[in-house]
Amino acid sequence: SFAYFTIKDRLPQILTRVIDTLHRHKNEFFEEHGEKGIEAEKNTISILSKLRNELQTDKPLVPLDDKLPDVPLWNQYLEYQQNLLDGNEQPSWFQSPWLYVECYMYRRIHEALVHNPPIDDYDVFKEAKIESFFESQQAIIALCTYLQEHLKNIEDLDEKQLQEELFKLLQVSLWGNKCDLSISAGEDNSQKASPLKSLDNLKTLILVDDMESIWSLLINSKKRRTSIEVTRVDIVLDNAGYELITDLILADFLLSSKLVTEIHFHGKCIPWYVSDTTKQDFNWTIKQLQSANNRWMSRCGMNWEGSIKKGVLVYHDHIFWTLPHEFCSMAQVATDLYTELQKSHLIIFKGDLNYRKLTGDRKWEFTVPFHQALNKFHPAPLCSLRTLKSDVQVGLKPGQGEQFVTSEPDWMICGKYGVVQFDASL
Ligand code: F6P
Ligand code: MG
Repeated sequence: SFAYFTIKDRLPQILTRVIDTLHRHKNEFFEEHGEKGIEAEKNTISILSKLRNELQTDKPLVPLDDKLPDVPLWNQYLEYQQNLLDGNEQPSWFQSPWLYVECYMYRRIHEALVHNPPIDDYDVFKEAKIESFFESQQAIIALCTYLQEHLKNIEDLDEKQLQEELFKLLQVSLWGNKCDLSISAGEDNSQKASPLKSLDNLKTLILVDDMESIWSLLINSKKRRTSIEVTRVDIVLDNAGYELITDLILADFLLSSKLVTEIHFHGKCIPWYVSDTTKQDFNWTIKQLQSANNRWMSRCGMNWEGSIKKGVLVYHDHIFWTLPHEFCSMAQVATDLYTELQKSHLIIFKGDLNYRKLTGDRKWEFTVPFHQALNKFHPAPLCSLRTLKSDVQVGLKPGQGEQFVTSEPDWMICGKYGVVQFDASL
């Protein structure tokens, strides 16, 4: 299965890259922290090599032992996995749920660093994320230009035109999800083609298209809203680099069209799945745009900075997003986050990992309704914008999935197909 391939090949490759990155930055650690920096780099590499060996030889998963606040939750989860097994068996790398083991690896990488001050806050994926941002420069310019030039008269658009623009930018954000660095084991996977021109050709690759429902929800709430009311959309972010830009562009459009009055972003507290967005990445991206040579880029950066200051663009993070838990357990495990999300009118979940956590990463029949797979996770109306990069998919029409099984065996893992999947029932 894809799970087996991921644990056997992709994760060790990612670990090897992390080790290599630390090694290449040795001089930087020395310049910043002297001998202590070098010592920490050596220790971290040795812990990570041991980790790679544990993984490759299917050793039991061990409890975490750093001092971060999520440790008790991780260790309880290990116990829970242990209790699912027969008396003598122990959860191990190849004998545990894929979602759990993969999340566990990223948390163990973080633990290795946490144990090694002064390099404990070093983001081992930062370099790859920055590189992927620059690799997508042309596509980023195209999007910023479109937003600034084409949508400058947004107030004059009629309803039909507004709907068309929303659909366009939802699709841009959907396809932005192709660019993650975990599927490519850290190799360049940036957006090279012009994002807006390719939309028509990609339309048939959207297997579930609920954009109409998203539109109705937003336009109705705009019409009903009084001047003192708020319409809030939450975007649970995925990858930094190009995908984050597509999310910011969508957010800007939603605000400037007055379809919504507040956007709340949710990012990761620690480096995660190579390219996922942390607060540092978010701030870096806005700064980068502000200081860009291209005037449309810099204008976007300035506007977004302004929206943050005004409090209409808000960035949050929460440890729940970097736990192995499925989202249906959020209400118990992270009640505060669940309550926060209940304030939203629409939650947009970006990307493949969020989809796996929404659906519990089960081997569902393709035709099982999305609502059922969510397993009572309904803080607010929600939708998933996700390109398929793992073998879980629900909500298809009868026969729709089966048709690919023989013609395109890798249809669920190659990132070619996408879904815009919505569920409103509470
Ligand atoms: O490796 C597991 C996985 O979920 C893949 O299926 C996917 O390629 C990647 O991690 C994360 O994708 P995304 O950035 O879209 O969440
Ligand atoms: Mg990701």
